[in-house]
Amino acid sequence: MKYFIITGASKGLGAGIASALLSDDHHLFCISRGESQSLTEEAAAKKCTVDFFLFDLAVNHDIPGLVEKIFQKIDRDRATGIYLVNNAGVIKPVGRIEDTPADAVEMHMRVNLLAPMLLTAAFVKHTKDLATEKRILNISSGAAQHPYYGWSSYCTAKAGLEMFGRCMHEEQKDEPGPVKSMSVAPGIIDTEMQTTIRGTSERAFIHREKFVELKESGQLVSPSKAGKRIARLLLSSSFKDGDIIDLRDS
Ligand SMILES: NC(=O)c1ccc[n+]([C@@H]2O[C@H](COP(=O)([O-])OP(=O)(O)OC[C@H]3O[C@@H](n4cnc5c(N)ncnc54)[C@H](OP(=O)(O)O)[C@@H]3O)[C@@H](O)[C@H]2O)c1
Repeated sequence: MKYFIITGASKGLGAGIASALLSDDHHLFCISRGESQSLTEEAAAKKCTVDFFLFDLAVNHDIPGLVEKIFQKIDRDRATGIYLVNNAGVIKPVGRIEDTPADAVEMHMRVNLLAPMLLTAAFVKHTKDLATEKRILNISSGAAQHPYYGWSSYCTAKAGLEMFGRCMHEEQKDEPGPVKSMSVAPGIIDTEMQTTIRGTSERAFIHREKFVELKESGQLVSPSKAGKRIARLLLSSSFKDGDIIDLRDS
């Protein structure tokens, strides 16, 4: 049995990744504030166990307890692989930093950066003595490498996430049963996050029009297509520990 912990699987890219992983020898643990009825129905049809944990990842101090609950459901003797996909994320706040309320910046960092760090920490603790395959995939963005006017929180959190993955690799690479991790920028996906981006004002995000054009010219990738590529990468032998890749380059 392979076990997958996926954040933000209620919609968008996370739902696409979760859907691509549905199989009768997989068990999915999905973490988000909302649930996906269609994913639950699809899972039942494919005889795959999916447990939804309704949880706000901004509440960082409850993350160790959440992971504890998930690992209570994992049969350690039957596990042939345990995987964590840090996918949940938000784009807001958007705008110049001096116009942004401090609590909005803090909330962003809690969800986009601190939550993946704390989930990873708990994952490493719980899998320490397990000799099975252990992998973490961080969903990053081109914004980790490229600064955007108005996206300072998003760019900073994603750059931090990529650096965190690199530090993880340094800590794990010489362990007998290392937790392997990599970061992937998924391209531009047709999700609610893109709707939010197109809905921001030109003043807050000066590149807004470019994102409108990408949508209108049909250049956004569907969550299902991107989800399939990410699920394949997660399970494949080309999952390269410590690597950072952009799906648009491959
Ligand atoms: N869309 C793109 O073009 C694009 C490009 C590059 C990278 N990405 C990255 O891809 C990932 C997924 O984005 P998306 O486009 O699929 O966005 P989305 O459609 O807005 O979905 C975001 C997911 O994150 C969850 N989430 C947000 N805040 C949360 C919180 N406080 N606690 C728990 N879950 C929370 C949401 O679940 P609930 O609302 O149910 O809590 C939802 O399932 C993000 O990391 C994003 O940065 C997206």
